[in-house]
Amino acid sequence: MEASAQRTQAVAEIRRVTADDWQRVRDLRLAALRDPDTAVAFLDTYEHAASQPDEFWRRRAAGAVGSAAGGDAAQLVAVVDGEWVGTVTVLVQDAGDTDHLGLPVPERRATLVGVYLRPTHRGSGITARLIDAAAAYAAEQGLTELTLDVHQDNARAQAAYRRSGFVPTGREFTGPIGPELEMARPV
Ligand SMILES: CC(C)(COP(=O)(O)OP(=O)(O)OC[C@H]1O[C@@H](n2cnc3c(N)ncnc32)[C@H](O)[C@@H]1OP(=O)(O)O)[C@@H](O)C(=O)NCCC(=O)NCCS
Repeated sequence: MEASAQRTQAVAEIRRVTADDWQRVRDLRLAALRDPDTAVAFLDTYEHAASQPDEFWRRRAAGAVGSAAGGDAAQLVAVVDGEWVGTVTVLVQDAGDTDHLGLPVPERRATLVGVYLRPTHRGSGITARLIDAAAAYAAEQGLTELTLDVHQDNARAQAAYRRSGFVPTGREFTGPIGPELEMARPV
C-alpha cells in the first residue's frame, strides 16, 4: 500500500448516515452509478436514480426506504477530510420478506449491498473498515452472519471480500446483471 493510502485509512471516519444527510447520500450514489467500474456491481441505473424525487432520498437516508429489497437498512459512510469517499449498506431482512430477485427470504438475515469506494481511495483499507462496521451493526441486530451477492466477473470486489473474511457459500445464480455468487462471513 502507498503511504498516502495508509494515511487516508488513518483519518477516515466511519459513521452511519442520518436523515439530514440525504443530499450527500444522493450525490454519492449518483457518483457510484456513473462510475464505469460499477457496471457489474449495482442493479440500479444512473438514469433511474437521478430521476428520483428528493423525498426518495430523504426516506433512503432515514433508514431503509428506497432499497431494492425491502427490510430495514443502515447505510455507513467513510468520511475523509469532510468528503464522503465510500459507503456500504446493511439490509436486515425478516423471514418472508421478498429479496431483490423477488424470492422469499428464508430466515432473518443481514445482507451487505451498495458497496462502493471512490476510485481515489481504493486500496486504502477503507473498504475493510466499512465492512467491519457493517458486521458490527449486524451483530447488534442479533445476527451471526453477513451475506452478500457479487458478480462472478467482479474480481476486485471478490478479492476485497475475501480479505475481509467472506467465503463463497456455494450458491450461484443469474440475476439482472448476470451470473452472481453468494459470499458470507461471521459477524
Ligand atoms: C469493490 C470495492 C469497494 C473494493 O474496494 P478496494 O479499496 O478497491 O478494495 P481493496 O483494495 O481493499 O481490495 C481489492 C483487492 O483486489 C485486488 N485487485 C485489484 N484489482 C484487481 C483486479 N482487477 N482483479 C482482481 N483483483 C484485483 C487487490 O490487490 C486487492 O487484493 P489484496 O487485498 O489481496 O491485495 C471498490 O473497488 C469499488 O468501489 N468498486 C466498484 C464498485 C463495486 O464493484 N462494488 C462491489 C459490488 S458487489
